[in-house]
Amino acid sequence: MKIKKAVVPVAGLGTRFLPATKAIPKEMLTIVDRPTIQYIVEEVVASGIKEVVLVTASGKSAIENHFDYSFELETFLAQKGKLDLLREVKHISRLIDVVSVRQKEPLGLGHAVMVTENVIGEEPFVVVLGDDLVDAEVPCVYQMLRVFEKYQEAVVAVQRVPMEETHRYGIVEGEELEDGVFKVSRLIEKPAPGTTKSNLAIIGRYVLRPEIYDCLHRTLPGVGGEIQLTDALDMLRKERALYAYEFEGRRFDAGDKFGYLQATVNFALEHPELGARFRKFLKEVAKGL
Ligand code: G1P
Repeated sequence: MKIKKAVVPVAGLGTRFLPATKAIPKEMLTIVDRPTIQYIVEEVVASGIKEVVLVTASGKSAIENHFDYSFELETFLAQKGKLDLLREVKHISRLIDVVSVRQKEPLGLGHAVMVTENVIGEEPFVVVLGDDLVDAEVPCVYQMLRVFEKYQEAVVAVQRVPMEETHRYGIVEGEELEDGVFKVSRLIEKPAPGTTKSNLAIIGRYVLRPEIYDCLHRTLPGVGGEIQLTDALDMLRKERALYAYEFEGRRFDAGDKFGYLQATVNFALEHPELGARFRKFLKEVAKGL
């Protein structure tokens, strides 16, 4: 069955990025010339997804507006003959259909996915976290969909992280079946030091089957008192199966100030109009270091 929907949870308060995120959703912070959420939506569109389900909270309407049709703006740009800008604005509003669901209480990532149950129904779907930007030749979600097609069970994206950083992630243990594909034997959300030997960290990309909802309903609050998607996935792997996939690409934690700077430099260097000038500028800066 072809996967058509992607859930993108955007209800978080963005406290790691205060004060910038006091009045602006963190997903609307710009990397070079696009808000971070647009990188996410462009990745899922390039992977064949047709509909994005945003899990929102109050104060997040700028995200919905960004992907909406803006009659006033398009008319203004057409009248002024600013055709390049008009093309860019039209491109955004035509990217994808967006549906919003409210997460009424901040009860965790697992809970954010749970509130999409009625919109998703009985189909497999993708979950993409807005903080994790992946720069890859083949879109990360597309790579994962290929793994799902083969195994027909849920897939989480993973990346090796330094052992001392494992406590910041969901960690998977498992056996490598083929290059970069693991059969998961255990998941631990934010493990305390010394409780796992694995450094395979979950990065915010998941391909899920609808059975995850049943697991989420039975998942008790875990780390931080929140309903953790990782805990529900640990239940799913016991009852069915779960695969982890070490994707190809460079990942940035754009919800973190340093990760955001890295992403900015990375995407600026690749920008078709700004890249060459920016590279020259960086070389000049580097000389003075
Ligand atoms: C969430 C997940 C965690 C995952 C991480 C990836 O954690 O709970 O399993 O490793 O995203 O970014 P958060 O960063 O929201 O604390």
